[in-house]
Amino acid sequence: MPAFKTLDDLTDIAAKRVLVRVDLNVPVAADGKVTDATRIERVAPTILELSKKGAKVILLAHFGRPKGEPVADMSLSLIVSAVNQVLGHKILFASDCIGPEAQQAIAGMKNGDILLLENTRFHKGEEKNDPGFTEALAKNGDIFVNDAFSAAHRAHASTEGLAHHLPAYAGRTMQEELEALEKGLGNPARPVVAIVGGAKVSTKIDLLQNLVKRVDALVIGGGMANTFIAAQGIDVGKSLCEHDLADTARKIMAEAEASNCAIVLPVDGVVAREFKAGAANEVVDIDKIPADAMMLDVGPKSVAAVNDWISKASTLVWNGPLGAFEIAPFDKATVAAAKHAAEQTKAGKLTSVAGGGDTVAALNHAGAADDFSYVSTAGGAFLEWMEGKYLPGVSVLIKTA
Ligand code: 3PG
Ligand code: MG
Repeated sequence: MPAFKTLDDLTDIAAKRVLVRVDLNVPVAADGKVTDATRIERVAPTILELSKKGAKVILLAHFGRPKGEPVADMSLSLIVSAVNQVLGHKILFASDCIGPEAQQAIAGMKNGDILLLENTRFHKGEEKNDPGFTEALAKNGDIFVNDAFSAAHRAHASTEGLAHHLPAYAGRTMQEELEALEKGLGNPARPVVAIVGGAKVSTKIDLLQNLVKRVDALVIGGGMANTFIAAQGIDVGKSLCEHDLADTARKIMAEAEASNCAIVLPVDGVVAREFKAGAANEVVDIDKIPADAMMLDVGPKSVAAVNDWISKASTLVWNGPLGAFEIAPFDKATVAAAKHAAEQTKAGKLTSVAGGGDTVAALNHAGAADDFSYVSTAGGAFLEWMEGKYLPGVSVLIKTA
């Protein structure tokens, strides 16, 4: 892994203005309550460490996709109280991230104060990584700390641009994330097993193509497994299936064979006639899916095979559920595999790294997330990292000299 400057390299920061990019893009319910504060919890250590060291901590973040202008329900003022609560420290707020509002608020800060600036995406220059906007942000700080791995796939002013203007450091969460990903896929202990699930192959082609070259076994579950099964000439009935991707699926399987990567597909499935919780269901072998039924989860023989691979593995990377985990009883396979991975990890036999989209929700549902080695809060950034892509917000943090 390339070397990154971290908070350990930051000494003597009392009274310094530190611009900290965090990801506060948290889900909020209609009543304004933050429904999952995980991302706030993840950035708390960096914020509190800098504050304790006497820095003036200035938080930069985006919230939603406001397209370059102020949108009331995407104001970061809405989550100030949730941040206060998680930090156990009252934060200040300024209603613009550049200009006189921001400058006045910063001028009034005492050492150790924490100030949240309004949504950076309220300015068009943020997503354009516009030099003028970046300079306006940079003027407010002496040092830049990026703790937002989950936004690092964006080359925006506050995630990438600032690193060209100010000395740049990885925050604690960024650091932890990069170290975990390195153990998961960068330089993993072998054998490495990847579990990829979710609805569609079409959103994960790059991911699958990268993984077959790098892991020893690739478990394919969820709706996307049906596309692979159908590509082998098996009738999947009414199951979710991208028939037009049959060639792609066959190509990925051929690439896997050439790279000595075992592809683990379901050998049985739980089928139902309706997509709803509690729907009548039965377990069938994969070549016996009734024409009027759809597969909503992988079956017990498949789970046994997946768990076997997990037992053999030294490293597991996981993205996406094995079945329709949000509707019982079609959560069984995901829960069983997640629990097994958690146990192996707890026993010191496995390094398990998971992330992306629904994965965190699925592992939380299984009660397994806490025992995984690392669960990323990143969606798109985790996927792009697993696809082997360059992440602009990470690249600018690499130590050059
Ligand atoms: C996320 O929620 O995935 C990150 O905060 C990035 O948000 P974005 O997809 O709107 O860039
Ligand atoms: Mg996203």
